[in-house]
Amino acid sequence: MASTESQLQWGGRFATAPDAALIAFGSSLADDLTLARFDVRCSRGHVASLHGGGLLSDGDAAALRTALDTVAAEVEAGTFPAFAQAGSFEDVHGAIDARVRELAPAGAGESLHAGRSRNDQVATTLLLYANDRARRGRESCARIASVLETRAAAALESGALLAATTHWQPAQPVLLAFWLDACARGFVRAAQRFADVEEASLAACPLGSGAVAGSSLPLDRWAAARELGFARPSGNALDSIGERDVALDLLHAGTRAAITASRASEEFVLWTTPAFGYARLGDAASTGSSLMPQKRNPDPFELVRAAAGRIAGTYGGALATTTGIGLSYHRDLQETKALVIRGTEHALAALDAFARAFDQLTFDERAMTAHAGDGYTVATDLADAVILSGKTARTAHRVVGERVLRAEIEGRALDAADAAALGIPDAPVDARGSVNGKRTPGSTSPAAVADAIAQTQADIARLNGAPA
Ligand code: ARG
Repeated sequence: MASTESQLQWGGRFATAPDAALIAFGSSLADDLTLARFDVRCSRGHVASLHGGGLLSDGDAAALRTALDTVAAEVEAGTFPAFAQAGSFEDVHGAIDARVRELAPAGAGESLHAGRSRNDQVATTLLLYANDRARRGRESCARIASVLETRAAAALESGALLAATTHWQPAQPVLLAFWLDACARGFVRAAQRFADVEEASLAACPLGSGAVAGSSLPLDRWAAARELGFARPSGNALDSIGERDVALDLLHAGTRAAITASRASEEFVLWTTPAFGYARLGDAASTGSSLMPQKRNPDPFELVRAAAGRIAGTYGGALATTTGIGLSYHRDLQETKALVIRGTEHALAALDAFARAFDQLTFDERAMTAHAGDGYTVATDLADAVILSGKTARTAHRVVGERVLRAEIEGRALDAADAAALGIPDAPVDARGSVNGKRTPGSTSPAAVADAIAQTQADIARLNGAPA
């Protein structure tokens, strides 16, 4: 283990040692260890930059690459955190720098940080992290959307019906396939937000920006950008080290994806109650009660429902840490980084949990279909038929409403006699007729739903390719 003074990356201009408690308070290691593999890559980019600029000999560049390979292997093997936590490092960047200095010959190890600041290092590492997590988020959301569409196609085939609600009150009959496609579309948009972040993350490489003003060393910034997969070096050092747009957009994408999963989860929590009886969650995704022997609870969907709130909290917090700081790097951005990582990791975990729980969810299509007409959900179709017979919308609404009131008092559904009395004997009075009678594109008619599913599947296929 490196000595205490070599664990900090500064010290020469200070006459007394730092307060250990303040160094501990200022350490971001617990938050940024997740970035270790990206920092190792970032350091490889800097080796390319130093080497390309003639600032490192071939031998020293090779020695540094070998040392970085070893650190990368330690990170993958899970042994690096123990090294990092045993020291009093300010962050993962300092810990990796120290480990490289242990592993590489002194001349090479001591040269790695030439022309580099943790400011351009943190900015670059965060972008590499954002690229990786945005890809995972995109893939995860696209996979969920695809599973939803597979179920939608099967439900279109079976013709299962569902009483769509507004305000949780029975509204209009729809196809279950229509609901599933609607749900999938939220995940398609979530995947698109991740794809946008993925693309933006590699647009411009901050490495070589130094602390704030660039460098008087002949760094080969293009070599670094190429090594790390960026399109080009960034165009303004001050902006590059101080902005966190992609990081915040990543957390925004994660938050919005989690909210998408949260809203679907709310439906599934209700659907699995015996009172609804629309769905059953398999044993592998259900939990029991420590007291009530009969219980089966849909905890994963409840936790995903709540996770979105927690993640939104990290997003609100991350935004707040960037409010009012100047354009450059300020230590506040360490807090931004911690929240971005925490929220993003939790969002990806919530998406994974949602996917696993959904795999365990089976629908009771018979029960759904049987209840699709409950609560006078065909009333709007009757009103539409009255309008088509030549009455105004206001009149149609009133006369059908009166039939609903009468049927309710008599404890029955709307029926053919109501339709006849309204002068619309051919109007549908059941849920199936209602769904089949829809005429607009984007509606719940079987033909429109088939089109919608095909559209969504095309979007998913596009999102499954890497971004342009
Ligand atoms: N731990 C800091 C962070 O994560 C590293 C950057 C510190 N830079 C500095 N000039 N003190 O943001």
